[in-house]
Amino acid sequence: MKMANADTTKMEAIGKVLNDDKRPLKERFRALFTLKNIGGEEAIDWIKKSFEDPSALLKHELAYCLGQMQDSRAIPVLIDVLKDINQEPMVRHEAGEALGAIGDDEVIPILEEYSKDPVIEVAETCQLALKRINWLKESKNHPENLSENPYSSVDPAPPCKIRDVEKLKEILLNENASLFERYRAMFSLRNLRTAESVLALGEGLRAGSALFRHEVAFVLGQLQEEISVPFLQASLEDPEENEMVRHECAEALGAIAHPTCEKILNKYVEDSKRVVRESCIIALDMCEYENSPEFQYADTLTKVSTH
Ligand SMILES: [Fe+2]
Ligand SMILES: [Fe+2]
Repeated sequence: MKMANADTTKMEAIGKVLNDDKRPLKERFRALFTLKNIGGEEAIDWIKKSFEDPSALLKHELAYCLGQMQDSRAIPVLIDVLKDINQEPMVRHEAGEALGAIGDDEVIPILEEYSKDPVIEVAETCQLALKRINWLKESKNHPENLSENPYSSVDPAPPCKIRDVEKLKEILLNENASLFERYRAMFSLRNLRTAESVLALGEGLRAGSALFRHEVAFVLGQLQEEISVPFLQASLEDPEENEMVRHECAEALGAIAHPTCEKILNKYVEDSKRVVRESCIIALDMCEYENSPEFQYADTLTKVSTH
């Protein structure tokens, strides 16, 4: 945090990389993650500026990062994005989810309003975010509920207590259960990290809600297990699949970074959907990072200082 105050010039240099639409997207992404890691008000201000960009992929990542930073100063920015119907559904979705990640009570009324949004991904996200905030409130008096997350992400739902893969899979795939319960099963399956739990998650890629499927893909990206590649490949390759899901499958393949993943991703860098094309470019950059001795993905800080 101190860094943000101490190094305004550096922050500015990184912020400018992020906001420069002439720069390659992968550099802008790395700049974004650098700002996220530094944190603070200045970082939020730089991130906010890029919501004018034409890339839905970049903008949804801005919202994601603002949520992960868990800084209540980002709330007004995220509310504006959620309300803006000119923003793509996936960007508004990520803004709603970020509000849930910050977890402040003050956003309850706005989330209630948008949990009836005509865009289903937005509505479902806000319903989930409300449940997360309520769960956080309840857990305040029951700290034993707050289990450890082996991944450093702030998840849209906490894992549940069940440890049995078959039972978890049943909940995961139960279209009559609430999305929140199914998400809880999803995060429990992730945390188990066995071959069976990964395969159960893979089946989730054929479930009902696009929002749900995109989260499954995200979780498979966190797991980085090669056995999930065929599932991710099938969804990326399905032209009928929702682009938000295809995007997340591409990025998960990038995180897994096996040579097969690179081959698959290279086929879709020219996809007709911009968000899929751009995801493949970012994913290939992630492959490169995963397979190189580079110290940190978010390396703009070092790159900027050596300029
Ligand atoms: Fe998302
Ligand atoms: Fe995404």
